[in-house]
Amino acid sequence: MGLPWPGLWLKRLWVLLQVAVHVATGKVLLTFFPERVKQHILAMGQKTGIANNPHFSHDNWIPTFFSTQYFWFVLKVHWQRLEDKTELGGLAPNCPVVRLSGQRCNIWDFMQDGWAFKNNVDIRNHQNLQERLQAAHLLLARNPQCPVVVDTMQNQSSQHYAALPERLYVLQEGRILYKGKSGPWNYNPEEVRVLLEKLHS
Ligand SMILES: *[C@@H]1O[C@H](CO)[C@@H](O)[C@H](O)[C@H]1NC(C)=O
Repeated sequence: MGLPWPGLWLKRLWVLLQVAVHVATGKVLLTFFPERVKQHILAMGQKTGIANNPHFSHDNWIPTFFSTQYFWFVLKVHWQRLEDKTELGGLAPNCPVVRLSGQRCNIWDFMQDGWAFKNNVDIRNHQNLQERLQAAHLLLARNPQCPVVVDTMQNQSSQHYAALPERLYVLQEGRILYKGKSGPWNYNPEEVRVLLEKLHS
């Protein structure tokens, strides 16, 4: 299971240094060349559509880049990726998840249905399962065409699937048929749509 402890901590230290350099460089550039940096971030955001979301303006997210909270979040994301347990064609981790009714189940329980994610929502960090379930109801309000479950508070699914902040997968017969790249810059719902349409045709 994963890397032995010393190896993992060495990798974490290396990632910590990389993230620190990234954030420090970003901060300096943002301070001295705010317009250039904004244009750069906007261009990346436009690629995936985040910059075109009418619900939040650029001023809501660009200035949050390279802050202390940003540093901790990016560090968490990159540390988590060291524990990625998925590979294309490999066994899909059967992590525990929670139905919105509170009932516990596992990811494989949905294997017959196939998956389809639609909209994404912007929500506060949840401290307990109640808050997490409540947040998931925002998704239900948009009538997704698939079952919705949440990770348990141990965050095992998010960890083993290296899913933070978002990632799309297609699982079939317990195996990983499709592993998308991670969001917010590199995930691609259109690829999932094409794949699902192909599977259903
Ligand atoms: C799981 O994630 C939540 C935030 O989404 C966090 O508050 C909680 O501490 C995490 N749990 C573990 C065991 O890391």
